Amino acid sequence: MTLIDGKATAAAIKKEIAEKVAGIVANGGRRPHLAAILVGHDGGSETYVANKVKACEECGFESTLIRYESDVTEQELLDKVRELNEDNSVDGFIVQLPLPGHINEQKITEAIDYRKDVDGFTPVNVGRMAIGLPCFISATPKGILELLRRYNIPTRGKHCVIIGRSNIVGKPMAQLMLQKIYGDSTVTVCHSHTDNLKEICRTADILIAAIGRPAFVTADMVKPGATVIDVGTTRVADASRKSGFRLQGDVDFDTVAPLCSYITPVPGGVGPMTISMLMLNTLLATERDW
Ligand code: GUN
Repeated sequence: MTLIDGKATAAAIKKEIAEKVAGIVANGGRRPHLAAILVGHDGGSETYVANKVKACEECGFESTLIRYESDVTEQELLDKVRELNEDNSVDGFIVQLPLPGHINEQKITEAIDYRKDVDGFTPVNVGRMAIGLPCFISATPKGILELLRRYNIPTRGKHCVIIGRSNIVGKPMAQLMLQKIYGDSTVTVCHSHTDNLKEICRTADILIAAIGRPAFVTADMVKPGATVIDVGTTRVADASRKSGFRLQGDVDFDTVAPLCSYITPVPGGVGPMTISMLMLNTLLATERDW
């Protein structure tokens, strides 16, 4: 069994990006510039955005953090999105979600120019991805593809079973694994109402768990020799930790891992890849001639 080290892979990717940026700057080019809009003071969002700004520094990017209090109006945000769309000094930007309840997240997301949508959340990017056009692929599915690629895990013709059908992981992951230019796999998508879930999972060469239920995937659901990718990160109470909780994946790691050829741990697997994929998308935004 090989443990897929997302933390080390993400660090290697950021280093590769930093080297590329150093080369661009040495040749008189401009640093990639990522902007982030953060509304309010939600602890999780503050941490995510601070980590994104830190990753920009590590990669040699310029970053701009635009903050609003939670009473910002939808119109103010739409105006800022449109301003960033037009700002040639900004290569890509994100609007950190969730937004306060009085703001229509979909409306804000749809206002982002798809050529600057480095989160890959706009319907235009999702649609372009689905038909294999140049696009920004959202961070979690892109990170999983990158892990499979860097660990030379064969995907062509393999049976990939995805548990979960969310817009940000399950559905895009299924599209990507299906497409010839990415996974080229045979894909089955399962969810909370799938009949014979165990039997279907047992036929997977690659099993991707993104259902958000701690330790949902047990040893009897995994074919010996399979690759198991765990996207789950649920906080579960753990009195032995100082924080009082630990992160639990969707996979019952201790019983499943001995069966696998490859498996991602939680934490340290898929999670650390996401910010490095945002950085990669921002670098791509500077290069792409749509
Ligand atoms: N909130 C949680 N994850 C994300 C993300 O990847 N992008 C944005 N914009 N908001 C988030």
